[in-house]
Amino acid sequence: MCGIVGYVGPKSTLDVLIGGLRRLEYRGYDSAGVSVISPDGHLETRKKAGKLVNLVAEIEEHPLPTAHIGIGHTRWATHGAPTDGNAHPHLGGQRQKLSLIHNGIIENFAELKAELVAEGTTFSSETDSEVAAHLIAREFEKSGDLAKAFASVVVRLHGAFTILVIHEDQPDMVLAARRNAPLVIGLGDGENFLGSDVAAFVEHTKRAISVGQDEIVILRAGSVEVRSFDGKTVQPEEFTVDWDASAASKGGWSSFMAKEIADQPQAVADTLMGRLNSDGSVRLTETDGLSHEDIKNLERIIIVACGTASYAGDIAKYGIEKWSRIPVQVELSHEFRYRDPIITKNTLIVAISQSGETMDTLMAIRYAKELGAKVLAICNTQGATLARESDAVIYTHAGPEVAVASTKALTAQITAGYLLGLWLASIRGAVPAAELKRVGIDLLKMPGRVSQVIAGLEQAQRLGTSMADAKSVLFLGRNVGFPVAMEGALKLKELAYIHAEGFAAGELKHGPIALIEEGQPVIVIVPSPRDEDSLHPKVISNIQEIRARGAKIIAIAEEGDEQVSNYAENVIFVPRCETLLAPILTVIPLQAFALALSTAKGLDVDQPRNLAKSVTVE
Ligand code: F6R
Repeated sequence: MCGIVGYVGPKSTLDVLIGGLRRLEYRGYDSAGVSVISPDGHLETRKKAGKLVNLVAEIEEHPLPTAHIGIGHTRWATHGAPTDGNAHPHLGGQRQKLSLIHNGIIENFAELKAELVAEGTTFSSETDSEVAAHLIAREFEKSGDLAKAFASVVVRLHGAFTILVIHEDQPDMVLAARRNAPLVIGLGDGENFLGSDVAAFVEHTKRAISVGQDEIVILRAGSVEVRSFDGKTVQPEEFTVDWDASAASKGGWSSFMAKEIADQPQAVADTLMGRLNSDGSVRLTETDGLSHEDIKNLERIIIVACGTASYAGDIAKYGIEKWSRIPVQVELSHEFRYRDPIITKNTLIVAISQSGETMDTLMAIRYAKELGAKVLAICNTQGATLARESDAVIYTHAGPEVAVASTKALTAQITAGYLLGLWLASIRGAVPAAELKRVGIDLLKMPGRVSQVIAGLEQAQRLGTSMADAKSVLFLGRNVGFPVAMEGALKLKELAYIHAEGFAAGELKHGPIALIEEGQPVIVIVPSPRDEDSLHPKVISNIQEIRARGAKIIAIAEEGDEQVSNYAENVIFVPRCETLLAPILTVIPLQAFALALSTAKGLDVDQPRNLAKSVTVE
């Protein structure tokens, strides 16, 4: 939440900042602002409520000087409404020579504000962030040393923050601090960058450093210094960003979401690449932090995640349990930590997160680690906090996901979950190796099948467009189809702002069937009829029960399932595959449906209201 970018170097700072904010806008779009220091040493700030385009228009009307140092911010409001006044940057000091941007929440801002107000400081916003600007400016006025003033203030702040500061009187440096919120450095030649994630600067450099917890950065054009909050020099590790700027551009697509739906064959293929041999056996290389002994001793797996990532966990649970015979429970990260869960050293926590910065999930793994559990992350972002703090990581190689609604990250997470299940199973030996390899070989075919689904999305799109007036859509599924139904409903809620709910089909008659009335659209994920103990007949019965009460059925079914056409107004067919792998395919028409419906309503699909991509507050 909130995107931050900083730059010092010879390029046009405004271009770097606006380019960076454009790529970070997915993190929040309530307001945007920039500050630069002009070559003659003046701090200039422009900020505006609303999306980045408003700031760009403001700068066109009131141009900024050419500058070689500056900071920029795109906001997801926490303290204070999304107004011009509450937009960042915030200025500090009597003569307003300091500019500050902040991502996170300063939990003790009220007492710090009282201290400043008692000294006569006046505030011009309702934000928690402004206190930090005034405190640093006050300390700088005392010592004349900006880095010292900055360090003395950040240790007083509680909560989560990435803070960037520039000051007119020390115009060669950007100062940054990080606690519980993301910050990466981009290393250039005679120039350096800061960003909430590498997207902020990837068009300029692929050399990056992920800043650690409680660290301060002193960034100049020719140098980067990293220190811990207690003043010790830190030798940070550099990494190379493995995607380029074009991956985070819309290209010719109407929206990032449309592009990211189409990216899914590649996302699934890249997540499998190098991890699945042609004989179907799995080899995971980033799991050194977990020994075979640890895996053999496992008594339980707890998957923690939020939102769409938690549905990836719900889906993976079926495979992990079936193949490895280890009991799995899936918990929303924010619930898990507050209910005194039973965790032992033989519990494996699997944390799933696209961003790797979701605060609820980070707090959950920290808590579990304190209790002695090992943590394995499934994460899409190199160098993210989650990856750094976990014992082992399976990176999903979905590439940057910019649209707020998750699509390709989900199918990549499901893929990684299957790889994990097969890998654990191969070590535990509870299921014959031949059976695991049969699934592995089928998993290898999934990218091709995903391509087939993408090529045939026209029907789902047409249905979505035709249902722009729907007031409510229900989704039903059983077994692995149940989390798919919940994901379909979530996509519709967040993108089209209409009531949508996903149910386990068997649960309907225990209450929700009362919702069915004439014309109620219901999307049903129908399982394959081919399995010996298939739930297909049961789902067909569930369909009949609601049809009899007026429901209009859209079925997502396997190719060749001719029977289903007798019970549904519309059937969207997806290719055949192993039953447990089907969610990678069945979820895609639901993504396309929600996208089309939202577009038909004239809504912004990439930036739905009230949301931000990376939820870095609890
Ligand atoms: C919905 C969506 C969210 C995220 C959730 C977790 O489309 O994207 O529900 O899945 O906020 O985010 P990550 O995966 O970054 O931890």
